[in-house]
Amino acid sequence: MKTVKDWVKDLVRPEVMALSAYHVPETGRLLKLDAMENPWALPDALRAQWLQVLESVQINRYPNPAAPTVKAGLRKMMGLSSQYELLLGNGSDELIQLVAMALAKPGASVLSVEPSFVMYKMIAQFLGLQYHGVALTEDFALDRETLLAAIKTHQPALVFLAQPNNPTGNLFDATIVEEIIAVTPGLVVVDEAYLAFTDSDALPLLDRHPNVLIMRTLSKVGLAGLRLGILAGAPEWIREIDKLRLPYNINVLTQASAAFLLDHYDTFREQTARLRAARTDLIQALRVLPLERVWPSEANFVLVRAPAGEARAVFEALKKSGVLIKCLDGAHPLLKDCLRITVGTPQENQQMLAALEKSLID
Ligand SMILES: Cc1ncc(COP(=O)(O)O)c(C=O)c1O
Repeated sequence: MKTVKDWVKDLVRPEVMALSAYHVPETGRLLKLDAMENPWALPDALRAQWLQVLESVQINRYPNPAAPTVKAGLRKMMGLSSQYELLLGNGSDELIQLVAMALAKPGASVLSVEPSFVMYKMIAQFLGLQYHGVALTEDFALDRETLLAAIKTHQPALVFLAQPNNPTGNLFDATIVEEIIAVTPGLVVVDEAYLAFTDSDALPLLDRHPNVLIMRTLSKVGLAGLRLGILAGAPEWIREIDKLRLPYNINVLTQASAAFLLDHYDTFREQTARLRAARTDLIQALRVLPLERVWPSEANFVLVRAPAGEARAVFEALKKSGVLIKCLDGAHPLLKDCLRITVGTPQENQQMLAALEKSLID
């Protein structure tokens, strides 16, 4: 008789069998500096008002699939021109998936740079799309010639560029980004997940290029638990992609919370400004430690290179001291010996720095 294992092996698509699931570590009581979350909770007064809003939410009813109040709040916060539409996702992860599904014609390919956000590749692979990853240069800049050649060869239907990039923390050269958009025969999604931590803004690209969509998220500014991703662009694109969205993807609690909190967005502006200041202090303090390299950052995390061969040991030592960061050694050749540290509160950063210093000296 066929076992469950046999059934699964016979029926599940081989590209799914070959994937490893996205790994989220157990955190327990560890200080979480691994996932680019905002460390500050809502201020007490705002939290009290928010809880009152939640009291009136009707969880026995389906959500409004069009989420008009949330969209109005987002438009205002983003300063989005009325000629563009919004599509909301259960996190921007879902939007990456929806865009890729919409363009997944037989033989179509997705192109991105590496190292970058791993979901671009994972989603392409699980949808059965070909994926091409073009390596960044040693200092994580766009490798212009190689990229333009790869686009010419592979003719991708979809290109993802994270601006600033994760896990490297840098902004790509805006002129090269526009050159890529100009030569790409497909759609270019500029992913601004870390927009709140930089002065760059890719939204004006929509006015200049019909093959661009801008993706954002509320996750990094302080609302990771809500799961609200944002895709902005021409209505012609949004209308088609929206057909693939499951109607109730943004639940009632998320809608009520986002609508209310977008009216109080100054709180998040103030918190992200504090994080930017904490990032400057953190980078300065890291530069004094015996690390191989500390890269500048336009995001709410800092990438560092540990002394050769020591990244894993440093990661484990920090974990033992109660601090969780991200070990990227082995994730890509350019990330050899690298660790990614999310910017926390000044106190959390001090705690992490003390543990890091100890692990580097021991
Ligand atoms: C570049 C980039 N895009 C998108 C995401 C996903 O964000 P969300 O929480 O909106 O799914 C991340 C998360 O780390 C990211 O780094």
